[in-house]
Amino acid sequence: MPENLPWRTVWVTGASTGIGREIVLQLAAAGVKVAASARSAERLAGLGGNVLAVPLDVTDASSTRTAVDLIESKLGPVDLAIFGAGTYAPVDVNSINPADFAHMMTTNYMGVVNCLAALAPRMTEQGRGHISWIASVAGYAGLPKAAAYGPTKAALINLAESLYPEFRRQGVRISVINPGFVETPLTAQNDFEMPFLMKADEAARRTIEGLASGRFEVAYPRRFAAILKFARLLPYPLFFKLIDKAILK
Ligand SMILES: NC(=O)c1ccc[n+]([C@@H]2O[C@H](COP(=O)([O-])OP(=O)(O)OC[C@H]3O[C@@H](n4cnc5c(N)ncnc54)[C@H](OP(=O)(O)O)[C@@H]3O)[C@@H](O)[C@H]2O)c1
Repeated sequence: MPENLPWRTVWVTGASTGIGREIVLQLAAAGVKVAASARSAERLAGLGGNVLAVPLDVTDASSTRTAVDLIESKLGPVDLAIFGAGTYAPVDVNSINPADFAHMMTTNYMGVVNCLAALAPRMTEQGRGHISWIASVAGYAGLPKAAAYGPTKAALINLAESLYPEFRRQGVRISVINPGFVETPLTAQNDFEMPFLMKADEAARRTIEGLASGRFEVAYPRRFAAILKFARLLPYPLFFKLIDKAILK
């Protein structure tokens, strides 16, 4: 963890469990003022008295605007926002349910867009700030079981690439966090072996370090991210051969 973190006030969504929770705990321990959001007020309360709990559902745009008002009135301007609220369910190709796909897109993608729309005007007005969101290495290329989840994460990577240049001209940084497999309630449902599985506190540490370093993309574990990026560049016959061998077996 870098000694002097460059933020006074940070807002984290998806903060009640998993990676988001660990990020909140590590930032608060480093003396940063943190606002933590998720739907479960009870779990947010468990983060401790020095964290501002701001329960919300990211799919409700008006509640994200209310949250920004509350956070800035209590803690001052947000220097960094990490949008991590997300959900995952594996897809069975023989029972494709459009409602599951819509739910994941609404939470993972529109949830970020709602929070971004609520916060970005405050930052552009001041000409400073940093907004980041958690996509996934699953957004690099289509992977088995991830037919509903992967497209939401590909969309989030594309969103960050699309927004970065124009926000930068207004003094606001956009970045994207792409974790591999991390041990959290989200991955507990996976019944397959997860390569390079990482603990949530380690993922949080790498996230904070990466964001402080100023990179556009914070991806970890590095080797796993590099393998998947390389796979994405392969011609499709080779790509699908690799998926068959490495994942479906
Ligand atoms: N674990 C991994 O291997 C992995 C890998 C790559 C990317 N990611 C991404 O990292 C992020 C965090 O995942 P995690 O693994 O830490 O999972 P997690 O422990 O299940 O955390 C998900 C968080 O999102 C919140 N959330 C879900 N729906 C919400 C909604 N509608 N409104 C507000 N908050 C909502 C949950 O809290 P409530 O239920 O209290 O609302 C929880 O705090 C997700 O975006 C996930 O896709 C995870």
